[in-house]
Amino acid sequence: MNLDTHKLGICVIGSGRAGMIHARNFARGTARTRLVALADTHGPTLQEAQRELEVETGYADYKDALADSRVDAVVVVTPTSFHKEIVLQAAQAGKHVLCEKPMAMDVAECDAMIAACKAAGVKLQIGFMRRYDSSFRAAKQRVESGEIGDVVLVKSLTHGPSVPQEWMYDIRKSNGPLAEVNSHDIDALRWFVESEIGEVFAIAGNFRCPQAARKYPDFYDNVAMLCRVENGKQGFIDGAASVGYGYDARMEIVGTSGVMFVGRREQDSVVGCSTAKGIVQPFVKSWRTLFTEAYAAEDQDFADCILDDRPPRVQGIDGRMAVAVVNAGNRSIAARAPVRVERMKQ
Ligand SMILES: NC(=O)c1ccc[n+]([C@@H]2O[C@H](COP(=O)([O-])OP(=O)(O)OC[C@H]3O[C@@H](n4cnc5c(N)ncnc54)[C@H](O)[C@@H]3O)[C@@H](O)[C@H]2O)c1
Repeated sequence: MNLDTHKLGICVIGSGRAGMIHARNFARGTARTRLVALADTHGPTLQEAQRELEVETGYADYKDALADSRVDAVVVVTPTSFHKEIVLQAAQAGKHVLCEKPMAMDVAECDAMIAACKAAGVKLQIGFMRRYDSSFRAAKQRVESGEIGDVVLVKSLTHGPSVPQEWMYDIRKSNGPLAEVNSHDIDALRWFVESEIGEVFAIAGNFRCPQAARKYPDFYDNVAMLCRVENGKQGFIDGAASVGYGYDARMEIVGTSGVMFVGRREQDSVVGCSTAKGIVQPFVKSWRTLFTEAYAAEDQDFADCILDDRPPRVQGIDGRMAVAVVNAGNRSIAARAPVRVERMKQ
């Protein structure tokens, strides 16, 4: 660790859409850290990120970043299929890890990542930033205070606006929208019901992406998943990609004596009213804007848990259980039947 500067040296691996959110935080706002390097296999993306953030060191091969003694911790923000390999190598090199969701492709990969980080004595945090969002946190506190009685049902939805990138069409490479879009819902559901999802029944179809249908017949852009929770509570997850109208992330918690709603639809507080269009208020455009503060808090907490030597708030087990539910959901879609979620080995 950089004891001379007392600042945690960070390298962001993967400087695409999500990577740049973390990189901007570490370059500009996260206390007690400094962004010492970026890594990306795509030259123009890497150079553009270096230029914007004025970071001198850029690596085409992330392994060179792991050999850089100024790097204490890495943020893994590559496509999901690369997470396992990079996290195993990072652990072996003694670097702490913040790994974006979905943690990996299957539970075996997650278990290997958890074991490698434990053996190396490095922190492993998973990027479920809704746990850092002020509204989700306030809802959690109010539910815990008994405001709506006991939790009965948690309904969580995420609809993404954009047309998926090609690697996401291939379910074998991406695990589909259940992984890429709904991992956050699965984690939030587990968080609010305080138990594990034991069984799921999912249905899915491709309604908005005809361009993908021929080459990727298994691709779905809409999914509905019913969840049986081990402690008897109920869950429902609604996922959609390529919706166009905006980024929609909301949750409804039904209790024995009330209900709670989380998540806003409005981009800002401006409401227009015209003779021609009636009331007009723009929808939230992107996860980047909706969760800006949550990502910043997540990155700060990652740095703090390393520097203060305490466990991360969102751990490998959380990533692992979400992946187990994604895998069960995809099996359920294919089998057209309910599927048990793979449990932890005792
Ligand atoms: N927490 C969130 O809300 C959130 C939001 C978006 C994406 N994500 C996750 O972040 C990850 C990346 O998604 P994205 O949308 O930013 O993708 P992206 O395609 O925009 O960016 C990925 C970047 O990784 C680079 N890359 C690919 N393989 C690499 C390798 N082996 N080493 C280094 N760089 C490599 C690519 O060149 C690209 O620039 C995914 O796991 C995704 O699910 C999380």
